Amino acid sequence: SRKPIRVAVTGAAGNIGYALLFRIASGAMFGPDQPVILQLLEIPVEGPQKALKGVAMELEDCAFPLLTDMVLTGEADVAFKDANWCLLVGSKPRGPGMERADLLKDNGKIFIAQGKSIDAVAADDARVAVVGNPCNTNVMIAAAQARRLPADRFTAMVRLDENRARAQLAQKAGVAIDEVTDLYIYGNHSPTMFADFTHAKVGGKDAASVIGDEAWLKNDFLPAVGKRGAAIIEARGLSSAASAANALVDHVRDLVTPGKVHSVAISSEGRYGFAPGVWAGMPVRTTATGYEVIETYAMDDFAKSKIALTNDELVGERETIKDLLA
Ligand code: NAI
Repeated sequence: SRKPIRVAVTGAAGNIGYALLFRIASGAMFGPDQPVILQLLEIPVEGPQKALKGVAMELEDCAFPLLTDMVLTGEADVAFKDANWCLLVGSKPRGPGMERADLLKDNGKIFIAQGKSIDAVAADDARVAVVGNPCNTNVMIAAAQARRLPADRFTAMVRLDENRARAQLAQKAGVAIDEVTDLYIYGNHSPTMFADFTHAKVGGKDAASVIGDEAWLKNDFLPAVGKRGAAIIEARGLSSAASAANALVDHVRDLVTPGKVHSVAISSEGRYGFAPGVWAGMPVRTTATGYEVIETYAMDDFAKSKIALTNDELVGERETIKDLLA
């Protein structure tokens, strides 16, 4: 049987953690033949540590054959020790009256510490996926700490936005989800992200012609996808958790499945007009050893203007936390 892989998850006793860990342990992320060891990090405070213990008890009670061991800890160096995947879900939520700049800085400090720890103790093949918001900037901060691990191992999640966009387009066109293809997310995981409908296809045909309503695509579809997170909070009283966990399962599974093309936030290196060094969503194709960026989509003026907006936001976030990158 295969050697288990070590999967570190931060914020493991949180809402997303509760929807995520059971899917990893059941084989949804790494496949039905791959045993896993879960290394779970929570803040070293009694309440969250106790809650983490409770989640671990439930994981035991599932008797998952693939779950060979669990580590519960309040220390990053223990959680990330020899980890092959580091799923950074935990972050500090925005409190009442808190400025966005303070949120960026407070979370930045968490991601400096975790980036350092990962670089020091994780496995040589370690890969990192950041979910905790603001995820594009948090991943940039963590990656800036790495001396050993290359920057392309650090990704942030825009897959929930891709899944939301595909579902909305399929619904509008009245087709099955699988009929919607070539729909990728560019830029920040925030309402400014650009869900590129201009290259999307429905049943293999140009989506804009199939839908035949450009105004809907520009004025309804894009804002609906961008503000979907807020709409979930409004309806549920809590932020998206099961769909976010599901998107992370998709994000990681597709990054370990050669041939998959999917939206991932990566170091832009100036592609698609993004500022070099910001982490921006764009399409990648998974290869046997990592991924290659799909750079061949030609953007029209509308798409370029949308990318410029989300790029401006990413550059602004970087400006706010620039002291944390040094
Ligand atoms: P939550 O508040 O329920 O759970 C977060 C957990 O992280 C808490 O248990 C907290 O104690 C823990 N935590 C905080 N700082 C930590 C640290 N330094 N080390 C380890 N654990 C730490 O939040 P929820 O709903 O699980 O969401 C988690 C994050 O994911 C939030 O930042 C949220 O904004 C983000 N998110 C991102 C999405 C995306 O598409 N990229 C989608 C949905 C949520």
